Amino acid sequence: MSRVAYVNGTYVPHGQAVVHVEDRGFQFADGVYEVWSVFDGKLADFDGHMTRLARSLTELRIAIPMTRDALTRVLKETVRRNRVRNGIVYLQVTRGTARRDHPFPPEGTPPSVIVTARSMSAVKAEAQADRGVAVITQPDIRWGRCDIKTVGLLPNILAKQAARERGAYEAWFVDDMGLVTEGSSTNAWIVDEHGRLRTRDTQANILRGITRAAILALVEQEKIELDERPFSVDEAKRAREAFFTAAGAFVMPAVSIDGTTIGDGTPGPVTRKLRTLYLDQAKRGAI
Ligand code: PDD
Repeated sequence: MSRVAYVNGTYVPHGQAVVHVEDRGFQFADGVYEVWSVFDGKLADFDGHMTRLARSLTELRIAIPMTRDALTRVLKETVRRNRVRNGIVYLQVTRGTARRDHPFPPEGTPPSVIVTARSMSAVKAEAQADRGVAVITQPDIRWGRCDIKTVGLLPNILAKQAARERGAYEAWFVDDMGLVTEGSSTNAWIVDEHGRLRTRDTQANILRGITRAAILALVEQEKIELDERPFSVDEAKRAREAFFTAAGAFVMPAVSIDGTTIGDGTPGPVTRKLRTLYLDQAKRGAI
């Protein structure tokens, strides 16, 4: 089936979906993005991602490109036209197209908006979640505003590529104190050696994950003991369980870190419970 992308007001065949060479997203990574999971054709954690999008745009002083209702229609239509039952929908908004100059372009330059959607194999994801995956660590060399979901992802892709080249699924960034910040495209969690669920607080320079926030609400509901505090690589290696969260990955168990086996090398009970609860809730709440 042929894919379709939304580009600045028009639905076009994926192969012909292009932006201008002087789009500021292309020239400067001057843009933001969001990713929603799609379940049965519906978007999960819809409001959370919309709210974070508005915040990212405001922080960078990029104009809100269209009303929330109009954007909702475009996201849903892109999912529909691509016949995505399970997968993701991707939105990118940049500061628009203008002559390549570092300062912001003239007032009134319209932001660029692109939306794509693609299917993902639920079977493959379930198999990975059943077995668990490997994680490696990498120094966190990113800028100081990782709370903004910008398309400037060079450190993230270098880290993810390093993971792939070492047979791992994800790379966890580590700050200069030896503490894990987050994954290259996920938030990092452990159940420490004392049985306490740990994830770094969002005062730190990390993305405030929407999946992370949904899991925190479930943790409270289930009365699971939580310690929202950074953990070191050593603590992670000694942990009973480790996992990471994101749209598309949901709750993914990590069964080794830099080659050290976590727990008994299989996904642990807290991780499995949170994955099940999250998937149930996200599917039910999807719109
Ligand atoms: N990544 N941390 C980083 C650096 C991320 O890029 C992401 C999401 C997350 C998890 O956020 P959320 O739960 O809101 O998806 C944490 C998306 C999926 C991506 O880049 O494709």
